[in-house]
Amino acid sequence: MKKTILITNPRDDDFKLLGEIVKKDGLVVFPTETVYGLGGNALSENSIKKIFQVKGRPSDNPLIVHIDSSDILEDLVINPPKEAYLLFKHFAPGPLTIIFNKKPIIPDIVTAGLDTVAIRIPSHPVALRFIKECGLPIAAPSANISGRPSPTNFEMAVSEMNGLVDAIIDGGQSNVGLESTVIKIIDEEVKILRPGEITEEDLKKVLPKNFKISYNINTHKIESPGMKYTHYKPKAKVLLCDKDKIKEAIRFFNDEKVAFLLFEAVPEKDVIFVKYNSLKDYARNLYSDFYMMDKKGIKLIIAEKVEEKELGKAIMNRLKKASGGEEFTS
Ligand code: TXA
Ligand code: MG
Repeated sequence: MKKTILITNPRDDDFKLLGEIVKKDGLVVFPTETVYGLGGNALSENSIKKIFQVKGRPSDNPLIVHIDSSDILEDLVINPPKEAYLLFKHFAPGPLTIIFNKKPIIPDIVTAGLDTVAIRIPSHPVALRFIKECGLPIAAPSANISGRPSPTNFEMAVSEMNGLVDAIIDGGQSNVGLESTVIKIIDEEVKILRPGEITEEDLKKVLPKNFKISYNINTHKIESPGMKYTHYKPKAKVLLCDKDKIKEAIRFFNDEKVAFLLFEAVPEKDVIFVKYNSLKDYARNLYSDFYMMDKKGIKLIIAEKVEEKELGKAIMNRLKKASGGEEFTS
C-alpha cells in the first residue's frame, strides 16, 4: 500500500506539490466534469506503465491525453483537421474527445500501439489548474479499476484508488457523470466512437452542412478499443427494464436486496428506488447510485430504459454495458 495524499480545497501550494508528483512520474487522481481521472505524465513511458498497472487495464486499450488549451495541439498531433478546431472552439473546454494522428513525442504505450491519439480539454477548473501546473499533457483514463463504474465523486475515487496512487484531489460531484463523447473525423464524416453528453445533434449544429455523422460503437471492427470490454459494472447485477414492465418487475422481485432506477415509471411503495427527473439527472447520478447500491448490499439493480436519442444514447450505452444487455422479461 502506498501512502496516498488526500487533498480537499486545493490551494497554490497543493497544486505545486501535485505538479512535482507528476513530473516525477507519480500518479494523481483528479476531478473532471465527466468522471474522475487517473492522471500521469503522458510523455513518460514509466508513468503510463503505472497507470495500466494500477487500473488492471488491458494494454490494448489506449488512454486519453488531457491538455489545458488547443494551443499545444500541434505539439502532439499531425495535421489536425480544421473541423477539430471548430469543434474544440464550441465544445472545449468540455466533454469532447477527438482522435488525431499522433506525433512520435507521444509514447506508443499511451495509444496501445495505434498511430492515433485521443485528446481532450476538460472544463473542471481543478482539472485545468492541475494540468497547467504540471506543464505537461496528462494521460488519464477514468479512475476506476478496469471494468467498474467510473468515480464521479471524491468518496468513490478514494474507495477505488486509495493506497494505489500518490494523491487524490477532491473536486466534488462531477457535473456530467458519464465519460466524454469520443469522436474521429475522417474527411467529411464524424464517427462517434463513444456517446456522451455532447450528442450527435450538438455536433450537427456546428459542423459544415455537408458533414455526415455516424456511430461506430459496437461493430465488430472495433475502432474504440475500450468499448469491447464489459464496463461500468457495479458489484450488483444490473437488468434493463422497459418503462411499462417496471410494475411487473416490482411485483416479481419482491425483495429488499433489489433496487430500481426509475425515469418515467411511477415508483411504488415498499421498494428501494431512485427516481430521475431528467436525462441529465440520470446521467449525472448513475455511477454514484451504482456505488450507493453496492454499499447498501443491493444484489440486483433494475434500470429503466430510456429512448436512445440525445443524452439517452449515452445512458443506454453505459446501461447495456453494465447489464451485459440482459433485460427483465415477463
Ligand atoms: O470523460 C472522459 O473521457 C474520462 C475523463 C477522465 O477525461 N476519461 C476516460 O478515459 O473515460 P478512459 O480511458 O476510461 O476511456 C477512453 C476511451 C476508451 O474507450 C478508449 O478505447 C478510447 O477512449 N480511445 C482512446 N484512444 C483512442 C484512439 N486512439 N482511438 C480510438 N479510441 C480511443
Ligand atoms: Mg474508463
